[in-house]
Amino acid sequence: MLADKRILLIIGGGIAAYKALDLIRRLRERGARVRAVMTQAAQQFITPLSVGALTADHVFTDLFDRQDEQDVGHIRLAREADLIVVAPATADLMAKLANGLANDLASAILLATDKTVLIAPAMNPRMWSRPATLRNRATLAADGVLFIGPARGEMAEAGEAGEGRMAEPLDIVAAAEAALGGGPLAGRHVLVTSGPTHEPIDPVRYIANRSSGAQGTALAAALRDLGARVTFITGPATVPPPQGVAVVSVETAREMLDAVQAALPADAAVMAAAVADWRVANQGAQKMKKDGSGRAPALEFAENPDILATVSKGAQRPRLVVGFAAETEKVVDHASAKRLRKGCDWIVANDVSPATGIMGGAENAVTLISAAGAETWERMPKAMVARRLAERIAEALA
Ligand code: C5P
Repeated sequence: MLADKRILLIIGGGIAAYKALDLIRRLRERGARVRAVMTQAAQQFITPLSVGALTADHVFTDLFDRQDEQDVGHIRLAREADLIVVAPATADLMAKLANGLANDLASAILLATDKTVLIAPAMNPRMWSRPATLRNRATLAADGVLFIGPARGEMAEAGEAGEGRMAEPLDIVAAAEAALGGGPLAGRHVLVTSGPTHEPIDPVRYIANRSSGAQGTALAAALRDLGARVTFITGPATVPPPQGVAVVSVETAREMLDAVQAALPADAAVMAAAVADWRVANQGAQKMKKDGSGRAPALEFAENPDILATVSKGAQRPRLVVGFAAETEKVVDHASAKRLRKGCDWIVANDVSPATGIMGGAENAVTLISAAGAETWERMPKAMVARRLAERIAEALA
């Protein structure tokens, strides 16, 4: 998978930089061509000499090096790679990438590239869980940046443990292989619905809900990262769709159903959209006007098609159908009943009471309900929920 692939490895400044040396060896063992860029801080931990000895190539360290810029240049470095790997990715590098800063060679390359970027964060667990880092993680995930790790364990600082250790080199190698198209979902087609629907009242007004599309977007990105071909059918969401997936934009529930049926067959369908249950039956062909009588117009509603139930019970049913259930009380009971009623295999249930801050927020706390029972996951960023769910989907389709 990695044979003859060009990997640009950006080494950030953290104690985990020493593992980048092993990573280079592992990548080269598999036939990859590795070129390395080091930040100033990385050079406080390991030297360009040792990195260059392992890549058997020049090591790039300076945006303002006249010779390097003449010979190769940061734009070429950014483009002449099949994959960019950042390991270790420090909190600082993540912040730069999330915000588009470009004041050194590593960040300029990351901003200039049009290639997939895989980052292996490494930092103190407190830095990893700070709101600023959480925001940057969510931004990067939504921008299509792939993550591997961090893992949980002992930190370099004596007595500290938690989530923040850089993923092991072999795990980074596996993630690089998946990013290059060899993941466990390679060759699989997965359909994802996401976002709210808008149901028109008249040509200028509509009924909507507060879904941001964040969880569905993260899920599509995670499935893509495992190698799936993803069709992403989205209502008018507030977060941008992921890169590297086929995006079908729709407005209403009925349009979403049509788009879903047009996208079948699929190996799996994940319905994360917050579809409106009703549409306005007496839609105005023109903008409704006040008639001076002081009476408000009466809206009549008609029930929308249930996309999840239609697909679950349809002739072209995917092997695995996953629904979501946003509940505000008796989450597991209601969601288990919904699983049976709709005929899907799994329901991902969450509590969207306003106090949880989940709807529109960066984190999610879900219970996965299947024929085998209910399994509650700890609260974590939506990108992590997406990754875990994508891994489970890969296992189910294996
Ligand atoms: O019934 P409820 O809306 O709570 O069910 C939620 C699940 O059903 C979600 O997976 C959602 O995408 C799906 N759904 C659907 N079509 C509808 C309503 C909900 O696919 N009309």
